[in-house]
Amino acid sequence: MTTTPLRVAVLASGRGSNLAALLQARNRGELPVEFVLVGSDKADAGALTLAREAGIPTAVLDPRRFPDRVSFDHALFERIQESGAELLVLAGFMRIIDGAALAPWVGRMINIHPSLLPKYRGLHTHRRALAAGDTEHGASVHYVTAELDGGPVIAQARLAIAPQDDEQTLAARLLGYEHRLLPAVVSHIAQGRLALRDGQVLLDGAPLATPLQWRDGALDR
Ligand code: GRF
Repeated sequence: MTTTPLRVAVLASGRGSNLAALLQARNRGELPVEFVLVGSDKADAGALTLAREAGIPTAVLDPRRFPDRVSFDHALFERIQESGAELLVLAGFMRIIDGAALAPWVGRMINIHPSLLPKYRGLHTHRRALAAGDTEHGASVHYVTAELDGGPVIAQARLAIAPQDDEQTLAARLLGYEHRLLPAVVSHIAQGRLALRDGQVLLDGAPLATPLQWRDGALDR
């Protein structure tokens, strides 16, 4: 394990339950990281309240105050750069990011998405899984590239869809898995065990043929 904690910035637009899960894992001593910034495009994001309570610096950038998406993204990423972050975690950040702004972060930036990617990129993933009659659903953590929800997948958590599930029950149950999956992946990164090279995820230096799976409380090949 590396001795200095990994400096992590988080971007979130909403309630921030995944950020809360990361903070709890850090507080339990399971995550060798230092949170250097929580950024948001929404002044009322719950994630910002959590960050303030935890004493983490915050940044709120209102997209309406910028002439276009590109200038917003460049301002945001300048702020992230200034924070000294080594890893950027998107935890419910509901904006598409300009490819040029994120390019320097490829390999140092991950996102959690509530589907078994490559299935159901974009929104309404639970509804779409149910409408398709899927028997299984899940969440994925992937490296971010310019392709929306399209970067190399690092790890997934799977759950069975029950016949009585609706969008709300499925989303709520999956969220519990997200809260364990994301800290586990961040922990692997903080320990220097994961990397992205030539579009390929490496675990302990060896290419990962398929995403890691969350099983029995741990990430497994
Ligand atoms: C999660 O479902 C995550 O997978 C998706 O956005 C949601 C964020 O929830 N990208 P929260 O703000 O972390 O509670």
